[in-house]
Amino acid sequence: MAYESLPPLTANTEWQALTSHARDMANVHMRELFHQDPGRFSRFSLTAAGLTLDYSKNRVRDDSLAQLFALARSRQLPQRIESLFLGEQVNTTEQRPALHFALRAPANASITVDGENIMPQVQATLDRMESFVWRVRSTQWRGFSNKPFTDVVSIGIGGSFLGPKLVSASLKPYWHGRLNCHYVANIDGSDITEVLRHIDPETTLFLIQSKSFGTQETLENTKVAREWFLHNGGCEQTIGKHFVAVTANDAAAREFGIEADNIFPMWDWVGGRYSLWSAIGLPTALTIGMDNFRALLAGAQHMDRHFRTAPLEQNMPVILGLLGVWYSNFFGADTHAVLPYDHYLRGLPAHIQQLDMESNGKRVRLDGQAVDYQTGPIIWGGVGANGQHAYHQLLHQGTRLAPADFIMPLKTHNPVGDHHRILFANGLSQTQALMHGKTEDEALKEMLDAGVPPADAKALAPHKAIPGNKPSNTLLFDKTTPETLGALIALYEHKVFVQGALWDLDSFDQWGVELGKQLGKDILSQLQPDLPKAGRIKALDSSTAGLIELYRRRDSGCHDPD
Ligand code: F6P
Repeated sequence: MAYESLPPLTANTEWQALTSHARDMANVHMRELFHQDPGRFSRFSLTAAGLTLDYSKNRVRDDSLAQLFALARSRQLPQRIESLFLGEQVNTTEQRPALHFALRAPANASITVDGENIMPQVQATLDRMESFVWRVRSTQWRGFSNKPFTDVVSIGIGGSFLGPKLVSASLKPYWHGRLNCHYVANIDGSDITEVLRHIDPETTLFLIQSKSFGTQETLENTKVAREWFLHNGGCEQTIGKHFVAVTANDAAAREFGIEADNIFPMWDWVGGRYSLWSAIGLPTALTIGMDNFRALLAGAQHMDRHFRTAPLEQNMPVILGLLGVWYSNFFGADTHAVLPYDHYLRGLPAHIQQLDMESNGKRVRLDGQAVDYQTGPIIWGGVGANGQHAYHQLLHQGTRLAPADFIMPLKTHNPVGDHHRILFANGLSQTQALMHGKTEDEALKEMLDAGVPPADAKALAPHKAIPGNKPSNTLLFDKTTPETLGALIALYEHKVFVQGALWDLDSFDQWGVELGKQLGKDILSQLQPDLPKAGRIKALDSSTAGLIELYRRRDSGCHDPD
């Protein structure tokens, strides 16, 4: 099947039926749905790849879900899922497949690109990673003064940063005793300065992580790291011991001075935000060990198998994707919250932000026509229970709809005090409060029963009422382990694919980031000191010109642009 646009989504009869059904559901409160059906939880929950999804606290009935599945089928979702796994060019604007699942596929799988099975090179790279990781962790690979490595510094940004950083932080309990891992991403010099301040060049291994090997932030940080190394005991001859690169641009890496043997490959058929499963995961593999890295891959593979084979009605990524469409397109929700109730998973919202927003933050369909419906939501979130003391007020009493995913391991790695039981109770109570709410009458009665003077209670009741009917999904799993983490991240990768397929988008390109990079070059030239008049760009808008002037005068103490 050619991966191309279908007829316009909003003209679709299933879409129009859902528009009408959303009006019917607008005044149905989830309290009623739970009251009418004591078995709601068991009917609207499912387990797959070690995860259990409770989606009963959503504003749907059986007929709502049936209509959403009908919409999915009318948009050929089963066929599009199969297209993904068959390696078809689902990245239509770059004429590439999206094969992140190949990075964690069984070794004997056959996944072809231009007629060639890519699995041998995937496996060979995993074997190279394994050998490298073993040599570093066993101290066979040492620094220029023959000391074992104690610190790994990963220099990369976007998908070359967020994914490996998430996995490293999430699996801290599995870290090797000696190796510490640092991540440098930002072009703000404070980022790398704060890392270099605390490490020793003799025992530091730098990983330069860049699919393109052309990202300005990463190259500039690598230059600083290299200079720091050369000015602190290192020399050109020993760079090879301390600098390794992961890139699809082998030539650029070698031109930069990375030794050929120290370059691990990436491939065009894996997007940056989907690349943590590749050699971009080296910082993770170095800290948690290759066995745990392979367990991470196995967890994701389990979710891949589920996504490819489960019927839509029992398919976890499909259900999450459709519920997101339901709120984005039929209830006007602009955002979606990711709320991990696990300190180690605190980096999950940031990774999913890039995964979701860089994939589906699009405005044209595969055929280039502008969409006439909402597409990717704004992803936000933070760790629970902290968020309850920061932004949950808006979730409970705000005017905006912000569906939320509560992600909660059943066990902790650190059973201190009564903490995990309290944390878990918090998560459940939040989803219950969001669904159930508290009516004004209930608030009034509560205050009167507590002896609040009637006049005061009556005045306060509207302020204490909580509307409820706020949707949430709850994802449970035994513990945050390499397997469950792999399955969890893959779940969101596939949810994003489901929504992109329904919205008729190319979820695997990111043309929107190019303009900023282009304009950045011109503006950078305008900020250089001693810029001759002839070098000034005249045709600048007054805001940009005025701000440049303020920057140029920053040392003069004069901040009034003329
Ligand atoms: O500019 C966006 C982006 O290309 C992301 O998609 C990517 O993850 C990041 O920049 C880093 O790119 P690279 O790995 O090529 O340095």
